[in-house]
Amino acid sequence: MTTPVKVLFVCLGNICRSPSAEGVFRRVVQQAGLDDQVTIDSCGTGDWHVGKAPDSRAIAAARERGVDIGHLRARQFSSEDLDNFDYVLVMDRQNLEDVRDVWRQNGGTEPVLFLRFGSSGYDEVPDPYYGGNHGFEQVLDLISDASEGLLQRIREQLV
Ligand code: 4NP
Repeated sequence: MTTPVKVLFVCLGNICRSPSAEGVFRRVVQQAGLDDQVTIDSCGTGDWHVGKAPDSRAIAAARERGVDIGHLRARQFSSEDLDNFDYVLVMDRQNLEDVRDVWRQNGGTEPVLFLRFGSSGYDEVPDPYYGGNHGFEQVLDLISDASEGLLQRIREQLV
């Protein structure tokens, strides 16, 4: 029995992008039959939405693709996450800067942009919070693409 690979997704509010990534990547991992070998969580660098469910638009867009994220609840990133997770995957450069500040002090797992695992040509997941529904579709497209690349990387690690 190998120790599960631990994956953490980080955005600003933990109500749009990172819970969507958590839900989508969990499904990708389940479909690959690896759910007992990978654990997945998400959090936000900000504390405004702690304890809240994801944004209703994120829940609806994910549900359209067969992914349920309605039960997730927001929590704030903490320095201990860098000790507890093997992958700390951030959504944009501001998240990267914020988490890297903590990493420089704390050490542990270095944060990386999640879309580095993708092939879309984007390296940031745009924040959909103040936009329309299209933004939530784009979030799902980008994180679905990067999830496949991340699964490949983890598969290689598990052999
Ligand atoms: P997220 O989106 O970082 O993808 O969860 C946001 C959610 C809330 C806010 C900003 C971004 N906000 O400013 O409250």
